[in-house]
Amino acid sequence: MESIWTLGSRGVAEHPSLSGEADADVAIVGAGITGLTAALPLAEAGFKVMVLEAGTVGSGVTGGSTGNLYATLASGQAPLRHKWGDEVAAEVVRARGEAVDHVEALVKRFSIDCQFQRQPAYRLVADERQHAGHDLNEELDALVSAGLEVEMTNAPGLPFDSWGLRIANQAQFNPLHYVQGLASALLGEGVVILQHSPVREIEAGKGRLRTDEGSVTAKHIVQATHTPKGISLVQAGMPVSREYAVSARLSSGEYPEGILWVLDPFHSLRSYRHGDDQYLMVIGEKHPTGEHRGDHYQLLREYLAARFDVEAFTHHWSAQQYTSPDGLPYIGRMHGHDNLYMATGFAADGLVWGTLAGMLIADQILERANPWQARFGARRITPGKSALQYAKENATVTKHMVKDYLGTEKLDSFDAIAPGQGRVATVEGEKLAIHRTEAGKLKVLSAVCPHMKCIVHWNASESTWDCPCHGSRFDTDGEVIEGPAYHPLARSGEKL
Ligand code: FES
Repeated sequence: MESIWTLGSRGVAEHPSLSGEADADVAIVGAGITGLTAALPLAEAGFKVMVLEAGTVGSGVTGGSTGNLYATLASGQAPLRHKWGDEVAAEVVRARGEAVDHVEALVKRFSIDCQFQRQPAYRLVADERQHAGHDLNEELDALVSAGLEVEMTNAPGLPFDSWGLRIANQAQFNPLHYVQGLASALLGEGVVILQHSPVREIEAGKGRLRTDEGSVTAKHIVQATHTPKGISLVQAGMPVSREYAVSARLSSGEYPEGILWVLDPFHSLRSYRHGDDQYLMVIGEKHPTGEHRGDHYQLLREYLAARFDVEAFTHHWSAQQYTSPDGLPYIGRMHGHDNLYMATGFAADGLVWGTLAGMLIADQILERANPWQARFGARRITPGKSALQYAKENATVTKHMVKDYLGTEKLDSFDAIAPGQGRVATVEGEKLAIHRTEAGKLKVLSAVCPHMKCIVHWNASESTWDCPCHGSRFDTDGEVIEGPAYHPLARSGEKL
């Protein structure tokens, strides 16, 4: 399961993974867009910067994103304005617009070949029923009031009737090629990038982090990991969801341009060219992590096939989203530790928030004033804007704790698990995550998430174990793919 962005992928020069003890001024956990954006100004200021990545550069959510860059939010400007008012809604657009400009400037400065181009973004309805459910006039008003250039428009090159809003001067690129190019530039600035080095522990008090084979002591530790590792207060109010993407080649050769958000209720479409080949992708089928409802990829294929003359499907991939309780990301110094930083709560808009987060965290470490620090700071408390979401999310976690601990089926024989299947079951009083490979081999793990002890669920679309509480995900060997868990699922002896 590889994203379309891996086409023509450029490797980044390998440093050996961490072994033994090392020190740095700044240790950054995660080589995605947030971590690498932060690394550049720090290295330029003369700091010794070390980046530790669990996989390879951009292999986390950055490489699974849409490659769309926009100043508004995918969830809409009007809901943001409704929640926060005119001033904050306009600040969000300004801050995000600056982040898009920052990406463009780095692409030019380092000649990063990532197909960055300015494109419009569209919010579209395709029939009267959808129109009735979306107040496009209200959205238009909110976008204009935030300073964006917007107009009403008809179908922009789609093979079905649609109309809506066109927001000028947004952008698209290949996010994986961008961070790979940025990483190569950083190596030239003296930044050390260690791939295949998952961090297993952060001791903020000692300024130390540990991998399986070594440790780093640093004055500052940046968790550029999409959600902070370990147990953190912010996880309590943060719904986690997954969204899927499918790409295809079209027989007609007619590919629509721009960022196309179709409010049906929500699919995102965009085209991409690689060499002589062109592709159309659709992103959608969002659901809470750990709550799978059928074959999400197949539903997206059907969506494309019903609307376009699909010649062949080419790629499919997915990504995770963390949505903050008050709708704005948490960026910067964490509660309790002045040397520990995080960036989370990006919802579906992470490439731009991640860029802003990298700029903001670097400024905080360099003790430079940044106008957005107070607005997006990780220590802010906004009970009036977030209390409801905290209550909802805690109810979700409690529901899973109770239901999954009491309601797990008992299994008398592993024979019930067919090749390719995974299932959580109680065996001799223990909750187990049991998977049989296509080749027939059984893999038996503890189903108890090492983060805060919820029970993981089988994700049949991706053959992973996903935790519904705070989004930790594990492969079928139990290794952490993403999320706040530091450690793999425990191995369990086969009991039947
Ligand atoms: Fe928190 Fe699993 S991710 S309990």
